[in-house]
Amino acid sequence: MVKAVVHADWTVGTINRNIYGHFAEHLGRCIYEGLWVGEDSDIPNSDGLRNDVLEALRNLSIPVLRWPGGCFADEYHWKDGIGPRETRKRMVNTHWGGVVENNHFGTHEFFRLCELIGAEPYICGNVGSGTVQEMSEWVEYMTFEGDSPMANLRRANGREKPWKLKYFGVGNENWGCGGNMLPEFYADLYNQFQTYARNYGENRLYKIAGGANTDDYRWTDVLMNKSERHMHGLSLHYYTVPGTWQDKGSATEFGERDWFVTLRKASHMDELLTRHSTVMDRYDPSKRVGIIVDEWGTWFNVEPGTNPGFLYQQNTMRDALVAAVHLHIFHKHCERVQMANLAQMVNVLQAVVLTEGAQMLLTPTYHVMEMYKAHQDAEALAVHGEFGQYVIEGESGSLAQVGVTASKKDGIVHVSLYNLHPTEGADVDLELRGTEGAYACSGKLLSAGAIHAHNTFEQPDTVAPQPYNDAALQNGKLKLNLPAASVVVIRLEPK
Ligand code: AHR
Repeated sequence: MVKAVVHADWTVGTINRNIYGHFAEHLGRCIYEGLWVGEDSDIPNSDGLRNDVLEALRNLSIPVLRWPGGCFADEYHWKDGIGPRETRKRMVNTHWGGVVENNHFGTHEFFRLCELIGAEPYICGNVGSGTVQEMSEWVEYMTFEGDSPMANLRRANGREKPWKLKYFGVGNENWGCGGNMLPEFYADLYNQFQTYARNYGENRLYKIAGGANTDDYRWTDVLMNKSERHMHGLSLHYYTVPGTWQDKGSATEFGERDWFVTLRKASHMDELLTRHSTVMDRYDPSKRVGIIVDEWGTWFNVEPGTNPGFLYQQNTMRDALVAAVHLHIFHKHCERVQMANLAQMVNVLQAVVLTEGAQMLLTPTYHVMEMYKAHQDAEALAVHGEFGQYVIEGESGSLAQVGVTASKKDGIVHVSLYNLHPTEGADVDLELRGTEGAYACSGKLLSAGAIHAHNTFEQPDTVAPQPYNDAALQNGKLKLNLPAASVVVIRLEPK
């Protein structure tokens, strides 16, 4: 029996809504086909952006969207992506499949996308193959209201008013595809590049320095030591790869061992955040600088027969559980984690939406992000308990079988739970302490009876949330049964 106590009167921090952020790169079929089809497409669209995907994304209440990469950001030259589309420069996307990039989706189209889905833009500038001037002029183009060469160029391209831009990244994976730099060298470049990314008028940039790869704590130490006063956020990238980088494992064909290893690797995010945060505490004990986990998610072998450079993978209940595990960890570290961006939004890696021509489906990960959106900007509540153990023979480590996270906003408490066991349900005694009031209780369940369950274009609703009415709050206590491999969100609203 699992026991959990949720303290309705004990908040441990605010869950920044940006923890529910997304990432869209010029990679494979994410931007082109997945989001952008062009105004002349037969697929119904708004200003070239496909309506079905827009509607699905709007329903997620996405707070922030990172673009244009990723590795692509450090070879992207923003001036190639403005002006009349038919005259925009064509280039080769050398990182991702060597395909031609026609630059039809550029700065103006990105801001339009953000407007249409209600997300704040997060732009990543080019350090690896760009110049200080190029980055500086991009910020001027986007945010300067007065009379200047870049502001006038923006006007000539049809946009009179500057956009509001807060989140700005100075390069991506500078230790790897963004230039293979050492942290000392990057820190110097960061300090230089960010100097010329100006705050124009009332626009205030939140500057994000390129952070560590996984457990490179030295990188974090050097960046904090040399650049802390110039940054608002420091990024961290960590992907859940069940196998090796050479053979990552199939997205849909896996056994219990792969299931366990995947979830154990996903849980590693907790240790990474604890340790990077500890390093940051030495320089920033008040936690002013946020950790920005601007790339996270599963990374499997591509679907058989698809372009290896396009990173297209299916998405099963295993991805749903990986998503839930991450969100619980981000809530736990909400004092330091100010943003996280699932990689990536459509058709790439742990996507929330997959498309095929005019067809679209929502993945199990989509449903978790939708069910959990109620936690955005809510106060995280203290949770204690005994959560059971999930171990398997022959594999090291043990996982808590059940995860519980809770938050409160406007008096409404949401409790989210997952059960990692692939074949056994979990009985949970949940106590809501610190409140006397009566609550109306409702819920949603994501469970498909099989760990490999996923949605296809032929059967798009194999995995879909159902109402969960098995919970009733009596004298502050709830008895729940979580099916094997499931995610549940309970809403408790004062009567
Ligand atoms: O998300 C795919 C790639 O993973 C990104 O372009 C890069 O930043 C990371 O290595």
